[in-house]
Amino acid sequence: MDRLAAPARLMIVSDLDNTMVDHDDPNNLSLLRFDALWESSYRHDSLLVFSTGRSPAMYKELRKEKPLLTPDITIMSVGTEIAYGETMVVDEEWERFLDQKWDRDVVIEETSKFPELLFQSATEQRPHKVSFFIEKRKAEGVIQSLYERLGKQGLDVKIIYSSGTAIDVLPQGAGKGQALAYLLKRFKSDGKTPVNTLVCGDSGNDAELFIVPDVHGVIVSNAQEELLQWYKEIGKNNLKIIHATERCAAGIIEGIGHFKLGPNMSPRDVVDLSTFKLETFNPGHEVVMFYLLYERWRRAELENSKLIIENMKRITYHSGIIVHPSGVECRLHECIDTFAHYYGDRKGSQFQVWVDRVSSSQIGSDTWLVKFDKWEQSDEGPQSCIVTALLHSKPETPEGFALVHAHQTWMDGFAARDKSSCIF
Ligand code: GLC
Ligand code: MG
Repeated sequence: MDRLAAPARLMIVSDLDNTMVDHDDPNNLSLLRFDALWESSYRHDSLLVFSTGRSPAMYKELRKEKPLLTPDITIMSVGTEIAYGETMVVDEEWERFLDQKWDRDVVIEETSKFPELLFQSATEQRPHKVSFFIEKRKAEGVIQSLYERLGKQGLDVKIIYSSGTAIDVLPQGAGKGQALAYLLKRFKSDGKTPVNTLVCGDSGNDAELFIVPDVHGVIVSNAQEELLQWYKEIGKNNLKIIHATERCAAGIIEGIGHFKLGPNMSPRDVVDLSTFKLETFNPGHEVVMFYLLYERWRRAELENSKLIIENMKRITYHSGIIVHPSGVECRLHECIDTFAHYYGDRKGSQFQVWVDRVSSSQIGSDTWLVKFDKWEQSDEGPQSCIVTALLHSKPETPEGFALVHAHQTWMDGFAARDKSSCIF
């Protein structure tokens, strides 16, 4: 919660399935476009919040399948569980609050009287969430009588219908919108209300995100019928909500642009990387651009030009060293020569590189310590290492900096597969 010293410039609160993640796109192109934009222009002063219907277990599964960035805050189980930071510290105060007028056993007992309700898997049954599948045509009637029955038992519940198939029974104070309102209240009491908040969603359990006061909202183009219906009846009058023309993460980028919340040009959309420069030196931007060049070089998606290699040498110290995750040391310039030979070695194959958690600190008047996770996804599977790099600002070069030293370490669970495959 306190990674940033000042109020966030932008807080994005996004649903995952079919909003951040496009399950119809095996190449994850729009997600990777969003990732590059976030790490290059927002990570250093903004907050990323994922708000998913998934339980912690199912959320972890999705993280293994898709190139999701590490969020600052994770809201899971339809706003009933909140966790902070990469270690996911649970908000116990929120869970205590949800105990009010909630009795899980009564919910189970009453819902069992409805044969139309089919229990979802055990992982999706959580302390403050009981979830079912239902046939679309039966949903409305069942929801109505459930409210009556549970009300008679003295419970104050919220029943949410999503994706035409799912029903979640939650405490009245829970839900994605209530969880966000709670976070905003906490930020306000710390004097850190984000300058702008953008909420993003595609289905019924996202509807209440859009009615949290003072937020902008983007409903992605591929939204579910029940959310589009809600938009038609209620949301449309709110000028701070748009129904995007683009799918999933591309719709989120569209929302950033529509509401003018900050840069909305993903580095991945830039054809000639050498033309995309920022006015002020931003380590996140440089790291993203470097690995994009690296990916395109190995995929032969840019010209095989000596200039690129010469330029890389110009922005690295002659005597600089890179320590590979395997522990092998290499002079930066030798490493660049090796890299030159790898032009097109991944041509036509699945090869994607992205960075996560870029952070940097200025440790001297012209020196920066930059740290990030680097991911490479290829036909052989994912590979990931933590990188620490020392940069020196060099105003006389077009890039404005030079790489002095880099050190890489395999991330937990990613042992060396093929030492030569990791070049930078
Ligand atoms: C996610 C959850 C599921 C829930 C649904 C709608 O798919 O896994 O339990 O019913 O979201 O909120
Ligand atoms: Mg969704």
